[in-house]
Amino acid sequence: MMPKFETIKGVLFDLDGVITDTSVYHEQAWHELADQLQIDWQPAFAEQLKGVSREASLAVLLNATGHPNDYSAEQKAQFATEKNDRYLALLQQLSPAAIAPGMTAFLTALKAQNYRIGLASASKNAPFVLERLGLSDYFQARVDPATLRKGKPDPEIFSRCVALLGLQPAECLGIEDAQAGIQAINASGAVSVGIGAKDVLAAAQIRFETTAELTLANIRQQLK
Ligand code: G6P
Ligand code: MG
Repeated sequence: MMPKFETIKGVLFDLDGVITDTSVYHEQAWHELADQLQIDWQPAFAEQLKGVSREASLAVLLNATGHPNDYSAEQKAQFATEKNDRYLALLQQLSPAAIAPGMTAFLTALKAQNYRIGLASASKNAPFVLERLGLSDYFQARVDPATLRKGKPDPEIFSRCVALLGLQPAECLGIEDAQAGIQAINASGAVSVGIGAKDVLAAAQIRFETTAELTLANIRQQLK
């Protein structure tokens, strides 16, 4: 059952691939690390790694070697650091110009109409990215991913974000571009809004092809 539009009081945002297209930089950095480790890059990795923590993403790549236990904890920590260094290098040019289409207008409309706004990103780089985009001040609550017991698709990050905003799950929309993220929102009891292709985001309760369609009027139409 979908709640009525009038019941919605808060919006929970994923960051990478929703607020800005940094998901392509995550993918590029993982691809470069895979090449360095002579792991065959599989096209399916791109969707599989979205929304997934740095450590869990590395595990996916190392599992693809067939001998993930050959790597020591120190080596794995080193690989994760190398990936992050590559990612941060790709973020050097990040500026407000990289905000996804329509996103500033959507955040401004939410704020003007007193919706509570939360961040539910698995990225430890999220504070830096929001700062570079000039969007930090919109978010009343942010979940620190370092404090999570389980990552997406577990609902923990969204449940915690709902609680930080002082709301109930059914009073919130969660916005995601990742399969793991949509699963997490659905399991939390919030209303899932997918940004992206239908074949990838079939589990989303509401879906828009791009952020340019993400408006309160369009959401209202879907929650009649
Ligand atoms: C987001 C991205 C993932 C990334 C994860 C951790 O969920 O979609 O691709 O692996 O954050 O990001 P971090 O910046 O902490 O490595
Ligand atoms: Mg994402």
